[in-house]
Amino acid sequence: MSDKLIIFDTTLRDGEQSPGASMTKDEKVRIAKVLEKMQVDVIEAGFAIASPGDFEAVQAVANAVKDSTICSLARATDKDIDRAGEALKGANSSRIHTFIATSDIHMQMKLQMTPDQVVEQAVYAVERARRYTDNVEFSPEDAGRSDEDFLCRVIEAAINSGATTINIPDTVGYNVPHQFGATMKSLIERIPNSDKAIFSAHCHNDLGLAVANSLSAVLNGARQVECTINGLGERAGNTSLEELVMAVRTRQDVFDCDSGIDTTHILSASRLVSSVTGFIVQPNKAIVGANAFAHEAGIHQDGVLKHRETYEIMRAEDVGWNANQLVMGKHSGRNAFKARLSELGVEFESEEGLNDAFRKFKELADKKHEIFDEDLQALVSESQTEENETIKLVSLKVCTETGEQNSATVVLSINGEEKTATAYTPGAVDATFSAINSLMDIEMNLQLYSVSNVTQGTDALGEVNVRLEHNGKIVNGQGADTDIITASAKAYIHGLNKVLAATSKAHPQV
Ligand code: KIV
Ligand code: ZN
Repeated sequence: MSDKLIIFDTTLRDGEQSPGASMTKDEKVRIAKVLEKMQVDVIEAGFAIASPGDFEAVQAVANAVKDSTICSLARATDKDIDRAGEALKGANSSRIHTFIATSDIHMQMKLQMTPDQVVEQAVYAVERARRYTDNVEFSPEDAGRSDEDFLCRVIEAAINSGATTINIPDTVGYNVPHQFGATMKSLIERIPNSDKAIFSAHCHNDLGLAVANSLSAVLNGARQVECTINGLGERAGNTSLEELVMAVRTRQDVFDCDSGIDTTHILSASRLVSSVTGFIVQPNKAIVGANAFAHEAGIHQDGVLKHRETYEIMRAEDVGWNANQLVMGKHSGRNAFKARLSELGVEFESEEGLNDAFRKFKELADKKHEIFDEDLQALVSESQTEENETIKLVSLKVCTETGEQNSATVVLSINGEEKTATAYTPGAVDATFSAINSLMDIEMNLQLYSVSNVTQGTDALGEVNVRLEHNGKIVNGQGADTDIITASAKAYIHGLNKVLAATSKAHPQV
């Protein structure tokens, strides 16, 4: 029987550290529920001390998810650990993940601590975390550039103090596969008490090697991998959960372990994370990209039609493509709508929430003949975010004529009060954004604007993503509508609401 490979998802913590990827408490709970459905073993729900909002998000995930272990990150200090322990109180099963840097460059330049002080602090932190839970993970940050003898020393001490998982982070994505694998093997062989802990890999993708390095670690004894949906994460991101899980599953001839992930939820998790964060999945992305299972060249199509394994190593349905794709239309009822959303991992807390989403579905069905899963996800993302917004779009009127100035008149509800403005500029989107800006008293810097179609056809929903910067705060906003100017207005307003709600929070590694 093969070993269990523990999947530790850090989309809500390391993934969220990606600029602009910040998520609200409700969005985090929605993602966590899908991760739970996928049978992710450990969900790192956040860095509880970062801000009151992060604390509440960890708490909310701990209360909402019962089948996965919920984890909070904590630096190796009293305050961090106590805050993490406090936030995790409601969890069925909790873990505290504490870390301190161990590379010479980090100890000297960042921490200004001696190696002896770092060992002492690591021991102290693990012991303190054990007061809250017997499930404690310790990470020597920047292990990928740390001296191996020192790693052995600090890890042995952490295990003696009660750490049950030892995570080896390649924090800056510097390692290459054969070397990272060799480090993992050597640590497990050299550390005398290594059998008392599970060893884990945490890789960053700066050289595009995060998945390869993690797989190499697994081949060399790691039994936990830390990863994120769509490989989301700071800079070039983290190990992508879907790629890692499918590589291990597809190549069982190579790996002597397997995860317990229900892979049929992979696609819906990918779409949800993409729509919540505004980080679009590239079409040629493995497993979840739109082209991942598309065969274009005639020769490939012919081969696949005769015998699918000629060119396919995985089945699209196994990761959620086309699975029970129930196309809905204007005659579909509320029960079918609710059932399909539940399949997609969306549950409503209140009847009003369901009724509101169903009303929007009916409105969309009047404009669009067939409604696909992607449409439902876009629609629900929108109605769930709208609930807590202080600025709402009431109406938009746009006039465009070739060679003439375009005008946009917007009516916004700002804290319940309706306000109207009109702007004239050469472009319809520009006029819409200018009109919105004239009603707001804040300076916005538009860093990114992109439009994509949610499904095929000219009646498809257009999804707009914007990235806004205000006083150093970066947020992403999303909006979907059959009319792309309205989708643009919704995305801009969504971003504005996020800027207004954003509070400053501590970064764990700075
Ligand atoms: O990349 C890293 O080192 C981390 C640690 C906090 C584990 O994310
Ligand atoms: Zn990391």
